[in-house]
This record gives sequence, C-alpha cells and structure tokens, in this order.
Amino acid sequence: MLFVCLGNICRSPLAEGVFRDHVDRAGLADSFEVASAGTAGWHVGDRPDARMLETARRHGIELSSRGRQLRAEDLESHDLLLAMDRDNLHDILFLDPEGRFADKVRLFREFDPDPGDWQVPDPYYGGPEGFEQVFDIVDRTCRALLGALAAHVRVAG
Ligand code: 4NP
Repeated sequence: MLFVCLGNICRSPLAEGVFRDHVDRAGLADSFEVASAGTAGWHVGDRPDARMLETARRHGIELSSRGRQLRAEDLESHDLLLAMDRDNLHDILFLDPEGRFADKVRLFREFDPDPGDWQVPDPYYGGPEGFEQVFDIVDRTCRALLGALAAHVRVAG
C-alpha cells in the first residue's frame, strides 16, 4: 500500500512508519508492503522533516523513508493508494485519466472513526502542535485501517 501526501516529508512518511509499526506489532509484517510518496518532486531523496521525525520519535517510532515522487506506474503496482487530503486525491487521479485504478485510490481518513473533514491537515507551515495533531489522526486512522484490512489478509493468507 502507498500513503500519499504533497511533499512526502511530513504526513505520508509518518503514516508509512506508524502503519508499519501497527503491522509489525500485529505479527502481520509478511502480509503488507508499506511505502509512501509525494505528488510534488521538491523533496525527492530527502529525509522526513525534522519536526515530524522528532514527533514520531517521541511516540517510539523511527521514520526511515526518503522522499520520492508519485508516478503513474504506482497506480498499477499498489493495491491501495491513500491520499492525505483532497488535493492529493485529485493529483493521484490526474495520473489515471481513464479511471482504470480509481477504485483503489481513497482518502486515508475514510478509515478514521472520527474523520472530521476527511483530510489530514498539512503541518508544514504551522507550529509544533500541528505535528502532534497529525500524529493523533494518523495513529488512530492506521489502527482502524489495519483492523479493516487484517480480516482480508487473514482470509487471503
Ligand atoms: P507533506 O508536507 O505534504 O505532509 O510532506 C509538506 C512538505 C513540504 C511542503 C509542503 C507540504 N513544501 O511546500 O515544501
């Protein structure tokens, strides 16, 4: 599965790291391939934002990703692409003009039991509390996402 945000240095690397942590702790590491990408190419090769790294670390999670930009092939090669906000969703679908893969592109917060406005707010230009808020949303949503997917994995595996 592929988590997608704008820069691939804040929200989607966090979702990748947090979801992988939930998967590992559930003993399901062999059942999931977890990655992230950004719709923009500004931070290709970069480590996650220092503020996001620090927030994740405070919660016991080390983020290991490097920035990469979403490509049209990603729609073919992943089973589920989860957009952090509506702009990301739009930009993902723009790479699939015929809608061949539209049914595997979703808003991440569709899985959030408390979905608010369905988007993970972009913390990049804000203060430290924004990063903590993003952590809470991402952690809660990843927990519910794994609950929703684990049943399929167990049946399939
Ligand atoms: P992200 O946040 O999409 O959660 O990784 C951003 C990172 C960088 C920029 C914007 C948002 N930027 O403008 O460089």
